[in-house]
Amino acid sequence: MCGIIGYTGKEKVRDVILDALELLEYRGYDSAGIAYGEKEGTVSVCKCAGRVADLRKKCGSLGQDATYGIGHTRWATHGGVCDLNAHPHQVGKVTLVHNGIIENYKELTKEYELENELVSETDTEVAAALLNHFYKGNPDEAITKLVGVLKGTFALVMLFADQPGRIFSIRNVSPIVATYSEAGAMLASDVTALCRFTNRYFVVPEYHILELLQDGVRLSTLTGETVEPEYQVADWELNSSEKGAYPFYMEKEIMEQPDAIRATMEGRIVDGFPDFSKDGLPDSVLKNCERICVVACGTAMHAGLIAQSLVKSMLQMHIDVELASEFMYADPVVDEKTLVVAVSQSGETIDTLEALKYAKKKGATCMSILNVKGSSISRESDYVLYTNAGPEIAVASTKAYTTQLTVFYLLVARIAYIRGKMSEDEVKSYIRDFEQVPAAVEQVLANKKQIHLIAKNVITAKDLFMIGRGLDYALLLEGSLKLKEVSYIHSEAYASGELKHGPIALITTDTPVVALITQEKLKQKELSNIKEVRSRGADVVLFIKESLQDPTTKEYETVALPNVRDAFMGIPASVALQLLAYYVSADKGYDVDKPRNLAKVVTVE
Ligand code: M6R
Repeated sequence: MCGIIGYTGKEKVRDVILDALELLEYRGYDSAGIAYGEKEGTVSVCKCAGRVADLRKKCGSLGQDATYGIGHTRWATHGGVCDLNAHPHQVGKVTLVHNGIIENYKELTKEYELENELVSETDTEVAAALLNHFYKGNPDEAITKLVGVLKGTFALVMLFADQPGRIFSIRNVSPIVATYSEAGAMLASDVTALCRFTNRYFVVPEYHILELLQDGVRLSTLTGETVEPEYQVADWELNSSEKGAYPFYMEKEIMEQPDAIRATMEGRIVDGFPDFSKDGLPDSVLKNCERICVVACGTAMHAGLIAQSLVKSMLQMHIDVELASEFMYADPVVDEKTLVVAVSQSGETIDTLEALKYAKKKGATCMSILNVKGSSISRESDYVLYTNAGPEIAVASTKAYTTQLTVFYLLVARIAYIRGKMSEDEVKSYIRDFEQVPAAVEQVLANKKQIHLIAKNVITAKDLFMIGRGLDYALLLEGSLKLKEVSYIHSEAYASGELKHGPIALITTDTPVVALITQEKLKQKELSNIKEVRSRGADVVLFIKESLQDPTTKEYETVALPNVRDAFMGIPASVALQLLAYYVSADKGYDVDKPRNLAKVVTVE
C-alpha cells in the first residue's frame, strides 16, 4: 500500500511527480506529498491530507524549478489521516517517503532517544530520524546502518540535504521498480507510473541500494559491489493505464474484458487443446500432484472458488481454497505432493506472498496466476501463468477476475485431459464452447443500459442479499464483494438453501434480493428459494441464463444472460454483476475507482 515515486531528469520534475502520483493513487489516497530539490540544494516539502488533486492545489507554483524530487500517496497504517502524518517526513538532513510497516519503530525510538525529534505519529518518521542519526556524510553507509536495525517491510526513498540531485532507495518486500530512459531516471512502486516514458524497467532487488542520477542509475549491494540492473519490458501499452473517454477506470476495465479474455487465451489453445507449454508449465506438474490448494485474497480468492467447483466436477480431485491471510495460522495440509496455486492481480499482496513462501517451505510445488509481471509473487513461484489483462487501476477488481477464471477454465481442462478424465473429443468440444465466451461478454456489455436501469431497484437499499446455488453462489460472493466495496451497501451473498436456517429473518420489504440462475440442474430449487423471499416482501432482481427463462421467471425484474455452456456462465454472469455494482456506485455519485478505506495493492498483513 502507498505509492512512491522518485524522479530526476529533463522533464519538469514537479509535474512528473504529481502526474505519477495520480497514476499510483489507487495504492492509497488518504494523503499525498512531494519533496523537491532545487539547484542550490534546498529540499522543500509540500504535503496534505486528501487526494493528489488537493496536493496539486496546495503546491500552486511551488517547486517549478525543481530538478529532482520524490512523492508519496498514503494509505494510513500508523497515525491518523492528517497533514502531519502525510509523507515525506523530514528530520535534519534527511527527507524520506516509505511504503510498508516498520514493526520495531517504538523500540527504535526508545533505544536511539528519538522522541524529541518526532512530530508525527508515524513509524516512517522514526526511520527518517534514525537515518539522520546515522548520517555522517555518506548516504550508503547510513542506509546500510538503518536497514541493519529496521524490522518489517519497507520501500524507502530518501533525499539528503547536502547531496543535491541524488535520490536513494532501498527495499525489503515492498516493491520498487526503476528505469533510466531519455527522459531521466525514475523509480516507482509499480510500472504503471513509469509507462509514460518507457516500458523498460527493472525490479530493484531487496537490500540493494539504488541511486537515481541525472545521467543514469547506480545499483549496488550493501557491501558496495556494483550490480547491473536486469531490465525487462512491460508489454502494456503506454497509454493503456489511462482512462480515455470513460468517467472511471472501473467502467473502462469492465468494457475491456472481451479483449482481456482473448489475450489471456492467446497462445494457450493449440490445435483445439488447452496448452501451457509457452508458459513453461510441464504436464508432469499437473499430473503428479495429489491435491491442489489455492491461496488468495478477496476477488482472487473468489476466482479460486470457481476453480474449486470446476476441479470437483471435472476432476473429482481434492482442492482446498484458503484465504491467504489465514493460511499459515490454520495448520494447512500441504506437502511435496501438493500443488499450491497463488492467485493475485498485483502479485504483491503480502498475505498471498507469505502463504506461498510458507507452502514452499513445506515442499509444495508453487504456481501462481498473476497479472503484474515481475511482481514479488512471481519471483517466489516455480511456475507463473500470466493473465494478460493489462493494467488494472480501479480498486475494484474486474478484468483481473474474469481473466483469472479464463486461466482456470483452460488449466482444469488440461488437467482433465492428461489425467484421462476427458477424452480428446470432449476437450475439443469444451474448448470450442469456451471460445464463445468473449462474444458472450460482448453481449452482456451491449446490454449495459438495461443493467443500469435495474440498478435503480437496489440503489436506495441499506442491506441486500444475493442468493444462488452451486457455482452461482460462488459467483455471487464476488458480485456481493463488488457491490459492497464500491457502493457501501451492506450486501451478503448466501447459498439460497441456507437462507431458511437463519438469515431469512432479515428479509423484509426493505431488503432487495439479487438472485442468479445459470445452472440448469439447480433452476427449480433456486426458483423455490426466490419464491420464499418474495413471499416475505423482498423485491427480486433475477439474473438468469436466457435459455432457462420461462413464464414463471418473467414475474421478476429480469436480466437475461447470454447462453454459453453452464460451466462457463461464470464469466458473463460476473460481468453483469460488475456492471450492477458500477452503476449503483456511479449513480450515488461516489468516487467509483477509489472507495473509502481501500487500496488496490495490499502490502500490509
Ligand atoms: O492483487 P490481488 O489480486 O492479490 O488483490 C487481492 C484483493 O486485495 C483484491 O482482489 C480486492 O479484494 C479487490 N479490491 C476486490 O475488488
